[in-house]
This record gives sequence, C-alpha cells and structure tokens, in this order.
Amino acid sequence: MRTTPNKTGKNVRPAKKYTQSRLAVGSSPSKFVKCPKCEMPYSPNSTRDIAAHKSFHDLVLKGRKWQKKWGVAVLPASNEITSSIHSSHITEGIFKVRPDNLQEVNAMMEIMTMVNNELHAPQDENTFWMEEDITGAAFVYVKGDRAVGAVTMEGLDDTRGRWMIYRSQKIVPKVLPKFELGISRIWVCRTQRGKNIATKLLEAARANTIKDRVVSKQFVAWSQPTDAGGKLASKYNSVKHKSGELLLPCYI
Ligand SMILES: CC(C)(COP(=O)(O)OP(=O)(O)OC[C@H]1O[C@@H](n2cnc3c(N)ncnc32)[C@H](O)[C@@H]1OP(=O)(O)O)[C@@H](O)C(=O)NCCC(=O)NCCS
Ligand SMILES: [Zn+2]
Repeated sequence: MRTTPNKTGKNVRPAKKYTQSRLAVGSSPSKFVKCPKCEMPYSPNSTRDIAAHKSFHDLVLKGRKWQKKWGVAVLPASNEITSSIHSSHITEGIFKVRPDNLQEVNAMMEIMTMVNNELHAPQDENTFWMEEDITGAAFVYVKGDRAVGAVTMEGLDDTRGRWMIYRSQKIVPKVLPKFELGISRIWVCRTQRGKNIATKLLEAARANTIKDRVVSKQFVAWSQPTDAGGKLASKYNSVKHKSGELLLPCYI
C-alpha cells in the first residue's frame, strides 16, 4: 500500500457508496445515528438508510456472502493448518478468486472497497490479481456462506523490498532485501478475528500464488503494516537482528 496516508486501521469509516446513499434521501444530518459496531452513520427514519446500514454492518462484522461454486479450493502450505480446517464442523475453506469470473471478481472488489476505506488505502491497487499479465492472486477464507477473510498478493521485483524496524516502524536505510511476494491487503471480518484465519490465508497464499511453487515465508513481505498487521507480521515472519531489534519484511 504505497501511498497510504494515516493508515492506522483504527479510524474506521464506511464505504463511500453507503455514505452517498444516505445523502441522497435528503434527511437532516442531525437525525443520523452512528452504529457503535460498524461505525456507519445513518438515519434510523429512512428505510433506505436502514437497509444500507444492515448490508454494510453485515459485511464489516460477518463478511461478504460467498456462493459455494465461487473460486478454486486451495490448501495452505502447512499440514497442521490443513487438518484444523478439515476438522471444523462448519463448511470452511480457502478459495482462489478466478480473474475471468465476473461474479467472483465483483464480490472480491466489494470486500476490497470496504477494506481500503477502513485502511484509508488507495482503491486502484487490484490489477495484479484481476487483469491480464497477472503477477499475483486474491484469496478468500470462506466459512459457511460468507467470505470472512481475504488477502491479495502481488509479485515483487528486486527493487521493492525493505526491512522495517518493528519497534519504531522506520525503514532500514540502504538495505535492499529481495522478497518475492507482497501482501497488498489482508483482512478478516470483526467477529472472526483472533482465530488464526489471517495466518491460514497467508499459508494458502504463499503456496498458491506462483504456479507449482511454494514461496518460503521469509520471501513474503508486508505493505505498510497497520498496528494489527504489524502484530500479525511480527508473529508470522519477522526476523531478529543481531542488534536485538525485530525486523519486518516490507516493500514499497
Ligand atoms: C490484522 C488482521 C488481518 C489479523 O487477522 P486475524 O485472523 O485476527 O489474525 P490471526 O488470528 O491469524 O493472528 C495470528 C497472530 O498474529 C498476532 N496478532 C494478529 N492480530 C493481532 C492483534 N490485533 N493484536 C495482537 N496480536 C495480533 C497474534 O500473535 C496472533 O496469534 P495468537 O492469537 O496466537 O497470539 C485483522 O485484525 C484485520 O483484518 N484487521 C483490519 C485490517 C488490517 O489492519 N489489515 C492489516 C493490513 S497490514
Ligand atoms: Zn452497524
């Protein structure tokens, strides 16, 4: 996420299209309430606003509806993680989005729009998983009838890798490590966080982005991690420098 200002992941705001729908009904702003859970402002007197809020609320808290036939099922790199997915009593799995399937791409884009709004990130960083000359891929974690998590991965050239000092969030100057895959966006819906879903998505992504090759964890880099993203990164693939500092593999 190269040009993201203020990407803390804390100041959540709703996807633009929902904000616009409330403005269109002509209600006075003073009648708006803000949902404490999804933080969307809406007018409780407007049927349209109520419907728009429910849709956004469910997306943020429970994920995007996902049809059974969408995507190609993929397995994570680690066996331990595979067995934990299979032992669950709920239908659960990780699916790769097919760039030539419009319904899958549109559903993924809806997730990405909401995620980018939440992260204050640019909306136009999707070409690598959905257009011609693809260097990356998009994956969703499906639980029941919803995509509850998503990740987009991009191929990196040798110029983009950097080390970030975890404690200070500063980039180490004059060092250009070579990483192969970049985590462009990673997201898990609010009610499913803390259940290892992001980790499983990353395990699947490094095994299924480049054809017939599993990319080692140490060659997977992060794009300006948020607070939560940094914590996930520190657990997933940080390295300890001889100075004692924890370094995160990042890219610009
Ligand atoms: C960051 C995010 C994807 C993590 O998803 P998740 O499914 O909860 O992550 P996991 O359960 O796989 O986390 C694995 C480990 O990472 C660390 N971790 C992840 N999120 C953390 C958090 N918010 N606080 C502290 N540690 C965290 C923990 O060590 C955790 O292992 P543990 O629970 O056994 O201690 C999720 O919080 C999210 O979607 N946040 C909003 C979007 C965002 O910030 N994305 C990151 C962009 S860089
Ligand atoms: Zn809400």
